[in-house]
Amino acid sequence: LARGALGADLAGRHVVISAGGTREPLDPVRFLGNHSSGKQGYALATTAAARGARVTLLSANAALPDPAGVDVVHVSTALELREAVLKAVPEADAVVMAAAVADFRPAEYVSGKIKKVDGVDPSPVALVRNPDILAEISAHRARPGQLVVGFAAETDDVLANGRAKLARKGCDLLVVNEVGGGKAFGRDTNAAVLLSTDGTEVEIPDGPKESLADTVWDAVAARLA
Ligand code: CTP
Ligand code: CA
Repeated sequence: LARGALGADLAGRHVVISAGGTREPLDPVRFLGNHSSGKQGYALATTAAARGARVTLLSANAALPDPAGVDVVHVSTALELREAVLKAVPEADAVVMAAAVADFRPAEYVSGKIKKVDGVDPSPVALVRNPDILAEISAHRARPGQLVVGFAAETDDVLANGRAKLARKGCDLLVVNEVGGGKAFGRDTNAAVLLSTDGTEVEIPDGPKESLADTVWDAVAARLA
């Protein structure tokens, strides 16, 4: 890889990355979750460290080893991730929200295991909204000039959905993935478009998640410079 050519363009920078997928517990043994493997977020962490950054990785349920030279904070639920993000952002030059955050959580946590009863239909699970971490940290920047990057998995009109989401979230950059048909989740490669509030759109061809990560850091480094 052309790692040497990139040099240490993130030296002296602190980046915060969320990775994996949150789990929202129903009872002690069950949760609502998603298919995020954490690979893209971990690739962002290892590439940022290789480019000289101090890296804080907020990891939600990724079955991956802690990368060397990276501060890893393990969380599980969206509310725990939000706490960890809010704690980490005051020192961050850039924040990348690669985690798949559950939009909803069960309204109630049942402290004992939920049991089935013969002849009785299960009760529906009531859900409540989780806070939108990306929108919150974008609206209230912890530091002036801090860069905030989001990820979006989309189907159907992927680009139009991505542009609308970039505007709605208030972040600086949004990596838009097409999902469905075995794309992205759990795979080692990823294709995407990197949208920016300055109007630029960078097409990222299907390739290793480290390549996509380096394209994100190129954009971040250029904007921090
Ligand atoms: N995100 C977040 N907090 C949430 C939901 C999402 O911080 N409660 C972040 C994700 O980490 C990601 C970005 O927002 O960087 C986009 O997530 P996505 O699920 O695509 O956005 P939503 O606004 O939840 O839109 P949708 O209804 O399409 O799921
Ligand atoms: Ca969502």
